[in-house]
Amino acid sequence: MSRRPVIAGNWKMHKLQSEAIELTNGIMQALKDEEKSALPEVIIAPTFTSLYAANKALKDCGCGKVRLAAQNCYFETQGAFTGECSVEMLKDAGCEYIIIGHSERREYFGETDEMVNKKAKAILANGLIPIICCGESLEQREAGVTDYHISSQITKALRELTKEQVAKSIIAYEPIWAIGTGKTCDSVEANRVIAMIRNVVKGLYDANTADSIRILYGGSVKPETIKEQMAQSDIDGALVGGASLKVESFSQIVKGAM
Ligand code: PGA
Repeated sequence: MSRRPVIAGNWKMHKLQSEAIELTNGIMQALKDEEKSALPEVIIAPTFTSLYAANKALKDCGCGKVRLAAQNCYFETQGAFTGECSVEMLKDAGCEYIIIGHSERREYFGETDEMVNKKAKAILANGLIPIICCGESLEQREAGVTDYHISSQITKALRELTKEQVAKSIIAYEPIWAIGTGKTCDSVEANRVIAMIRNVVKGLYDANTADSIRILYGGSVKPETIKEQMAQSDIDGALVGGASLKVESFSQIVKGAM
């Protein structure tokens, strides 16, 4: 089964609206000579306040080569939840994907596996695609509990989802010690963990579902690392933080995944 590669840029808490427009337009400009069908699925995830502006820039271009994601959502549909955004609101703002369970959200904002599962259900119920993040800390890696920890995160995140829903979802394996540190996880090791995740999905569902789900690597992905990462059997793309904030590095990563 051939899985379409995905390159997603997680802008985190960066870029004012004018800067978001500039970056969005710059990315589309950098990809203008590439055939759409040859490109990976290219996704950008601006902050909530820049979603409208980025979506407008994407629509004005009309090339359809870049898609929009949010970095978080709330699982309730509406109500007295000060400061939160529902999936429907994010869909209305042009999002087709939503990142959930990022380690920064787990660490600083108390996002639990149970919340990740509720968010995944709400996202899929609205026809959007969750990008479900998982990953171990350095302490967990050194204690030899990486596989146990990741299996547990994935099993809890996917609880009660149907195999059709899981098949179209995206998982991002992001070792916490590799995020924003410049220290990329060795490609062979990243591929081993990702194959292990695929095997967990196979155990929970079946071989077809495991073959369909796209699993990305994230953590200090750079233009220099992407080719080797994409050459691995189970790595289907990348969730890119720092290197997604510049047209040059992000477009090189996209082209490196073609
Ligand atoms: P990084 O971030 O590429 O800056 O390491 C990745 C992420 O947190 O998604």
